[in-house]
Amino acid sequence: MYSDTDFITSSYTISVTEGRFQWSAPSNIALVKYWGKKDKQIPANPSISFTLENCKTITQLDFSKKESNTDFSFDLLFEGKPKEEFKPKIQKFFERIFEYCPYLKDFHFIINTENTFPHSSGIASSASGMAALAMNIMSLEKALCPAMTEDYFYQKASLLARLGSGSACRSVKGQVVVWGAHENTAGSSDLFGVEVTDIHPNFKNYQDTILLVDKGEKQVSSTVGHELMHNHPYAQRRFEQAHENLTAIKTLLATGDIEAFIKIVESEALTLHAMMMTSMPYFILMKPNTLEIINKIWAFRNTTQIPVCFTLDAGANVHLLYPENVKDKVLEFINKELVGFCQNGQYICDQIGMGAKAIQ
Ligand code: DP6
Repeated sequence: MYSDTDFITSSYTISVTEGRFQWSAPSNIALVKYWGKKDKQIPANPSISFTLENCKTITQLDFSKKESNTDFSFDLLFEGKPKEEFKPKIQKFFERIFEYCPYLKDFHFIINTENTFPHSSGIASSASGMAALAMNIMSLEKALCPAMTEDYFYQKASLLARLGSGSACRSVKGQVVVWGAHENTAGSSDLFGVEVTDIHPNFKNYQDTILLVDKGEKQVSSTVGHELMHNHPYAQRRFEQAHENLTAIKTLLATGDIEAFIKIVESEALTLHAMMMTSMPYFILMKPNTLEIINKIWAFRNTTQIPVCFTLDAGANVHLLYPENVKDKVLEFINKELVGFCQNGQYICDQIGMGAKAIQ
């Protein structure tokens, strides 16, 4: 069992005074959802996700040694241009991780970041963004502490990403990732994500097509949503259910039972939204077109027996999950019956990916 203190870097040597790293990190889509947390970004229940491949953030980190290490400084660029609005979130992230990475105050940083998915597409960039930044920080730490193991590198990267945004810890390494202590998942932890490797070939290159139903700003941020699980009338039972669903879905991922997988995935998506509808204050993030799409998917699945299902994030967009061997048929269905419910007819084709990659 790991504890927080295992990841505090207490000794390091400033062996490099300037340099640059660059990493990409993908977004991920939860199958069993994280909704509700305790202090310090500890999840109220364990979750599991598919790592995506195409929707990612690419972040370059330039660092140069400062004269004194009393305070912390950085510049933030988005697509090469200064972006003041993004700074407070990054500043908050750094404040949370100083205790684990005291060397950060020895350097000035220039962070240059961009996303592969369209800006304001309603796709949250916090998971990919925080993961990409965490990877860069770990590259710096490795330069200062060369003896670290690869396991430590990835575990701490995931831990740092988690402190930026909970779901970001599932965007670091592996195609399928569990985050949160779970009885039936060896090595699972509230502190970082762990890779699940027992995956049946039926899930190889599993597809995720993201239908952009509403690209507007979210009415309720995830952070506020998580808080509403405190004193929520159904919270305890929901947290237990997540443990049960995680146990079940891991077996289905291993045996390749797509039919049973679909039932859990769709139930989890609707449960997430049911939690929002039954909190106080209550809210609805689905739009009429979200429901239109869900009904169309159910009708299509019933008549064709093609195993396509949906999941939702904390928003109106719909993720269609399906095996690679039905890709052409599902894309035809999307183009014929679903694009009309997407804002400006937009959707993004993605699939399961491996996790973060070093670019330089
Ligand atoms: C609905 O990770 O965005 O996507 O930890 O406050 O940054 P913070 O929340 P965040 O919550 C994601 C919630 C979710 C479900 C999931 O990804 O598991």
